[in-house]
Amino acid sequence: MPAQTPLMTRLGMTLPVIQAPMAGGSDTPDLVVAVSEAGGLGSMGATYLTPEALRAAVDKVRGQTNRSFGVNLFAPQPVPPRPEGAEATVATVAKAGADVGAPEPVLPETMADPFDKTFPVALDSGAKVFSFTFGLIPEEAVRALQARGTLVMGTVTTPAEAVAMERLGVDAVVAQGAEAGGHRGTFVGSFEAAMIGTLALVPQVVDAVSVPVVASGGIMDGRGIAAALALGAQAVQMGTAFLTCDEAGTPDCYKAAMLSAQPEQTRITQAFSGRFARGVENRFMAMMEGDGAEAAPLPFPWQNALTRPMRTAAAQAGDAGLLSLWAGQGVGLSRRQTAAELMARLARETEAAVANLTR
Ligand SMILES: Cc1cc2nc3c(=O)[nH]c(=O)nc-3n(C[C@H](O)[C@H](O)[C@H](O)COP(=O)(O)O)c2cc1C
Repeated sequence: MPAQTPLMTRLGMTLPVIQAPMAGGSDTPDLVVAVSEAGGLGSMGATYLTPEALRAAVDKVRGQTNRSFGVNLFAPQPVPPRPEGAEATVATVAKAGADVGAPEPVLPETMADPFDKTFPVALDSGAKVFSFTFGLIPEEAVRALQARGTLVMGTVTTPAEAVAMERLGVDAVVAQGAEAGGHRGTFVGSFEAAMIGTLALVPQVVDAVSVPVVASGGIMDGRGIAAALALGAQAVQMGTAFLTCDEAGTPDCYKAAMLSAQPEQTRITQAFSGRFARGVENRFMAMMEGDGAEAAPLPFPWQNALTRPMRTAAAQAGDAGLLSLWAGQGVGLSRRQTAAELMARLARETEAAVANLTR
């Protein structure tokens, strides 16, 4: 195996692989446990969980492993005012949802950011890592985590964001390249300008900060891991590669879509949540954003709330056309296997990729 990096040593990892937190249900406790038990770091995206559900999920993980794992939240965001004139958007979601028997979509009267309610559970969860995306968290939160010995890790998409993150006092940064599946973590400047590929982003972030850097975006196998380590990363964070694992809670139709998707089928969309995210193109994206779309997505988190019942019904009906099929540009390398098989394969492939360079 490649050298043990300081970040791996601090977290008791034997493989430089972090399973990305994936809010929405793919990152089940079984997946988290399997990855951590295999020498990586499993992590849980807790943003959409109630405090009680997060506590139950953490208890489940802690009941099955003594190894390190991570908990992740979206950084607190100001909630924009309830959108006016949303009728056309609501009608588009209603039309789409009718295909799968979804209840009539209703825009909530009020919405609140969940960070303050969920953070105390994350703080006392016993997780060795707390990570976050979409911005900075309060300094008191960083201090409280570090006082408990928790490693704090924030997502960045530019070197400037990495510098802001280091100033906040985090212990590591996740450099999220433009290839990445799921939501963009950009929080400084325009989203378009921050679409920097992993190969270009990681070394520039490594040079910009002194804390360890985790490379993320488009990494699917040992070749990608070896490349990230060569760029100066101390570990990688992989999401898409874990979506098709047996233990992942990804709906079957979503897994099937990943296993047949080609990289040119992913694109950036606001259709499902109102925030920019990368996923495999499907029917709902075309309805919301394609030629002839009759309405525009509402801002986050309103669009997310509006489309949730449709997505839930689509998962039950097995209709991938209406699900947010978050996936990175490496999606064509997806494989169906257990998490332990994937981790063993990643170890072998990384070793082979490193050996190939010196042969
Ligand atoms: C289904 C899915 C859900 C995600 N949810 C989160 C999340 O809750 N928190 C977070 O920090 N990152 C989230 N991400 C982004 C990942 O942390 C990571 O940046 C991304 O998966 C890396 O790109 P890859 O998918 O090509 O490996 C998610 C990614 C996917 C694919």
